[in-house]
Amino acid sequence: MTKFIRVLVAGILVVIGSAALTAQNHKPEMRSTDSKESIAQGESVYKSHCAICHFAASTEKKIGPGLKGLSKRAKFADGTRNDNQNLVKMIVNGGKNMPPSRENINDAQLRDLLGYLRTL
Ligand code: HEC
Repeated sequence: MTKFIRVLVAGILVVIGSAALTAQNHKPEMRSTDSKESIAQGESVYKSHCAICHFAASTEKKIGPGLKGLSKRAKFADGTRNDNQNLVKMIVNGGKNMPPSRENINDAQLRDLLGYLRTL
């Protein structure tokens, strides 16, 4: 019986440990909710943090590349695969000439922004 309890406790610790790891790394897994409200919020996040360097309605370069059609591009200009995880990384960490947004955009804003970017 005590062995059973020990095994049980060990199992619980493993579960808690992996939950903590998941929580730490949640950002790359972040997904948009794609609700209308969320997309509208995302557009306003875009306007305050991204529009200064990126056109949303064109592929013309402003300071960074225009993001029209972003959701249909297989790759970023530098060859990085355009998937949710790399997009989150790009936004959070920035790029060569793109500043990181981790200090300016919270998780909820990031989720909304991803939903909006998916409509471009
Ligand atoms: C100060 C200007 C600036 C701001 C602000 C900025 N970016 Fe960028 N962005 C760039 C530049 C320059 C690039 C080109 C790649 C590089 O420099 O790493 C880029 C590249 C990108 C790319 C890759 C596009 C491709 O097809 O290659 C995406 C996606 C992107 N930015 C999204 C965003 C989003 C979303 C925001 C707002 C949170 C944002 N950027 C804010 C300058 C900026």
